[in-house]
Amino acid sequence: MVIMIFLSYFLVGLVFGYDESKCTPAELPIAMKCNIKHRELRSQGATLDLEDDKNMRKLNETCEEFLECSTQFKCGGTEKDVENIDEAVSYCHVVAFHVSPGYLDCIDKVDTKNSTCVQGWNPFPDFEGTEEEKAVKQKEACRNFFGKDGCLEKEISDMCSVELWKDFKKHYLALNKIIEACDFD
Ligand SMILES: *[C@@H]1O[C@H](CO)[C@@H](O)[C@H](O)[C@H]1NC(C)=O
Ligand SMILES: *[C@@H]1O[C@H](CO)[C@@H](O)[C@H](O)[C@H]1NC(C)=O
Repeated sequence: MVIMIFLSYFLVGLVFGYDESKCTPAELPIAMKCNIKHRELRSQGATLDLEDDKNMRKLNETCEEFLECSTQFKCGGTEKDVENIDEAVSYCHVVAFHVSPGYLDCIDKVDTKNSTCVQGWNPFPDFEGTEEEKAVKQKEACRNFFGKDGCLEKEISDMCSVELWKDFKKHYLALNKIIEACDFD
């Protein structure tokens, strides 16, 4: 694998203050079950080896169940809870992208070509050093978020399609919002 998967992140759980009394009798049991799904999602995202397709599909299954109840789950949530639930929803959309046939087919081609653009591509690197050194490295990583001089755009558009590139970009920007690595606004 040249292209790595960057989905092993901790999603944030609910904060204190979830108020069940705000939920209707119809919402409540769904919300309670969804809380368990949310926890499962967070634990799987943090512990499964996501380079393994089997695990990725497993994560997507948990996501499917979570997405079905995520709207009701918000019923008793604080503003912060609702934000965290929305974050998990967009995380699940990124997961679904990573198991979609279009993505898998594309990444296979890009991986096989192993161009200099994708070698060492890492939008979310871990840094060591002082805070100052980390800040400099982070800035550099953000500049090359889509490969050196944004080379991934051409790479993916050429090898796959412009449509797939747009999806890729959309989902990695969503992931960046969750991880809060780069400030693109
Ligand atoms: C992944 O989950 C999505 C729902 O988020 C679903 O539409 C899609 O079919 C699932 N993909 C696979 C390969 O199971
Ligand atoms: C990609 O190419 C680099 C340099 O040519 C090589 O070191 C690396 O092993 C290759 N990776 C794969 C997965 O083929």
